[in-house]
Amino acid sequence: MSKPIPTYEKDFYSEDVIRDPYPEYELMRGLGPVVYLKKLGAYAFTHYESVKYALQNHRIFINSNGVAADDFGSSFLKGNILSSDPPVHSELRKAMAPPLMPKSLKLIETRVEEFAVKIINKLILKQDGFDVMKELAPILPLEIVRDMIGLPEFGKRNMLNWADAAFNILGIQNSRGQDGVRKITEMRQFIEGKITRENIRKGGWIDRLFIMLENDEIKPEHVPIIIRDYTTPSLDTTISAIGHLIWHLSQNPDQWDEVRNDKSKIELAISESIRLSSPIRSFCRTTAVDIEFQSYKIPEGSKVMLLFASANRDDRIFPEPDRFNINRLTNDHLGFGYGIHMCVGKHLAILEMSKLLLAMSNQVKTIRTYNPRIYLNNTIYRFEELSARFVPINENEIDK
Ligand code: HEM
Repeated sequence: MSKPIPTYEKDFYSEDVIRDPYPEYELMRGLGPVVYLKKLGAYAFTHYESVKYALQNHRIFINSNGVAADDFGSSFLKGNILSSDPPVHSELRKAMAPPLMPKSLKLIETRVEEFAVKIINKLILKQDGFDVMKELAPILPLEIVRDMIGLPEFGKRNMLNWADAAFNILGIQNSRGQDGVRKITEMRQFIEGKITRENIRKGGWIDRLFIMLENDEIKPEHVPIIIRDYTTPSLDTTISAIGHLIWHLSQNPDQWDEVRNDKSKIELAISESIRLSSPIRSFCRTTAVDIEFQSYKIPEGSKVMLLFASANRDDRIFPEPDRFNINRLTNDHLGFGYGIHMCVGKHLAILEMSKLLLAMSNQVKTIRTYNPRIYLNNTIYRFEELSARFVPINENEIDK
């Protein structure tokens, strides 16, 4: 016997829900592993088990119909790596991934580490405080990733705007989504019309694509797609994650002490922060056939929203899910996704965050934060503003 699917009535993209989503996720999980989003005419998977089930079954929950929460956004952004299924997905991923893999990242590790130290050296002197979201979180990703991709100047300057736009369109076409369309049209015109071998950085990731093109190792139509896939998801996601990491460590000073005293816990802290405050709230899939999950029936051709951020607070998997705890036994969160579409930039994001924490652990005794304010974006959950002050390990010396 199939079960009736409970309905969630609110606008998932309203300002209230974006600013304070966690009580809503809890409510949705309480309704069941599958709920019907009345305002969107789509289903949502809310529990860890249901989200992971969809991510594991990419032939049933397909991406090539687009992953936005409405039809316009889904078809507008079609064709990129996330909005593709095998075999196209495998070809794109094979061409895109090598510079983002740990072996290649080893080559930039020292540079990332040195720049992280430079950032923290500067901030530790700001004893009147600073804004994490302006002076800390974006600085390392902008310095490193922007340079590695190697876009011409106009592209470098606009990467953050374009990322914000893409993540808005990946929700619905409310005013934020509509504004995004204009910016992404500008990005496409630029990538398709203004990038040449002469104006990109030699040795960068785009340069590598041009070399592959010369050697017939990549399809010509895949080049602009991969340039877009390097450009839009590589900054805002990590910037969001750094902001939350600083926040959680400031709220849990005992755990910051633990990290300072045992640097092998740096990666645990990063992982726990991404679980607890997942930068990407959700993406969608389309059912390729009629499905039945735990006696809930969903017809073929339905849109299903996968709520990564809700799954990561499911108490069936994570006891005391709302608590920041770097010593959890299960760290198997879905904040980077799972399965064939699992985040290809994960190692880069972790490298950047680890080096920042390492630099902080050598200099910062206490992290103080004030006035957190959440930014309005349809997909990315991040602070707009977060004031902070770093209390140095040897405060007296700095005070002199
Ligand atoms: C902390 C930072 C990051 C988080 C939390 C994050 C999160 C995610 C998630 C949840 C997915 C899977 C989406 C799905 O299955 O629907 C994903 C995929 C993806 N991410 Fe990330 N991401 C981060 C950083 C990056 C970076 C630095 C890049 C650099 C290029 C990147 C590029 C991508 C791409 C291209 C995909 C699609 C992969 C595919 O379809 O095979 N991400 N990311």
